[in-house]
Amino acid sequence: MSSCPSKVSSSSLIFGAGVPKPVLTDEEIKLVRDGSNGVRGILPARFYTDPDIWKWEVENVLKKNWLFVGPWDWAEKPGDYFTIEMFGEPLVITRDKEGELHCLVNSCRHRWAKVAQEEKGNASVLVCPYHRWSYNLDGSLRAMSLESIQGLDKKDCGLPQLRLELWNGLIFINFDKDAKPLAPQLAEADKYIKNYGLSKFKFADKMPYESDWNYKFSFETGFEAYHHIGVHNERISEAMPPAAHRVIASGELFTLYGQTGTQEMHEAGVYHPFGTPPWMDEQRAADRSYDAMYLGVYPSLICFIQPHQISFITTQHKSVDRNQSASCISIADWAHEVPNAQTLIANEVQFMKDVQDEDTLACTSLQAGVRSSFNKQGYLHPKFEGWLHHYYEWWVNQIQKEE
Ligand code: FES
Ligand SMILES: [Fe+2]
Repeated sequence: MSSCPSKVSSSSLIFGAGVPKPVLTDEEIKLVRDGSNGVRGILPARFYTDPDIWKWEVENVLKKNWLFVGPWDWAEKPGDYFTIEMFGEPLVITRDKEGELHCLVNSCRHRWAKVAQEEKGNASVLVCPYHRWSYNLDGSLRAMSLESIQGLDKKDCGLPQLRLELWNGLIFINFDKDAKPLAPQLAEADKYIKNYGLSKFKFADKMPYESDWNYKFSFETGFEAYHHIGVHNERISEAMPPAAHRVIASGELFTLYGQTGTQEMHEAGVYHPFGTPPWMDEQRAADRSYDAMYLGVYPSLICFIQPHQISFITTQHKSVDRNQSASCISIADWAHEVPNAQTLIANEVQFMKDVQDEDTLACTSLQAGVRSSFNKQGYLHPKFEGWLHHYYEWWVNQIQKEE
């Protein structure tokens, strides 16, 4: 009996297995891993400009690791879905009737039309517009239209399904069916954020933009506070100065760093604009060391977490220097209930947008500057951005891994 392919395997990769592995010289590796005279280096500039390196990263890093795609409530109720594209691969995230989330390849098994057309929606079944084959929300084929094709088994014609994990209200997908589960790898970070109840936060707003720069720049710009005195100087360098930040926890796949706010600003309510969260006791409320944290999960999630909000960036990968991104913010469930909540939420949304506009300036300028033929490896300030070293070393490990 014939069957439609419904398993994602390496043969479905868009660039194939033949993309050559990028070469790092011994000197470049040494500068990242060990540094020179106490100063460590970052990835060479070509890792942000070379289309062939990007293709290798897609096949060997992005498709092998957990990719953050959005918050839980972009598909909140049964039947909700949203569509994305990763490296040209059309995908749809659905929530089925039982409440389970799925990541399906959004390409009909009949003759490959895109099944779900809209950016988001709600449907009891997904119907392909071309010849009206229909699919259940878990991807299984519900029916061929008019008459079933003899010789083709319906159960072999489901939409291919990628792995999906929901972690603290954040949806991650993985093209690699053998990838290690995500949650155990982030268990150490969980200790510091579990009280926040992120899985109940409610999406508030997003600002979509074309990110005309290498995706790593978005991650790296959110992964250090040194630039607060640069592009964010007017807005946040006083409340969040570089020297107030330190690493809280780190694992193979992540680093959680945070800022200890000043007593003065704490008393002025700067760090808790919605008031003290209901779950905080007095002792915890007085402890300012975990009230502003940044979590970087390599290579795809960078987010800013406070007790009342989480802001994050989603990226749909298109090419080495052009992607579709959105800066987004979700607000704690309890914060929606405080007096004046709508005004306070509007302030948080505006703040997120203003900060992103400044980071867009930084990333645009990075992509324009990185092209110089004089660039080799940049340097890390050991005091103010030293933890980026952990991330760059992770990249070197990816490149040195056996394929
Ligand atoms: S391509 Fe989808 S039903 Fe024909
Ligand atoms: Fe920034």
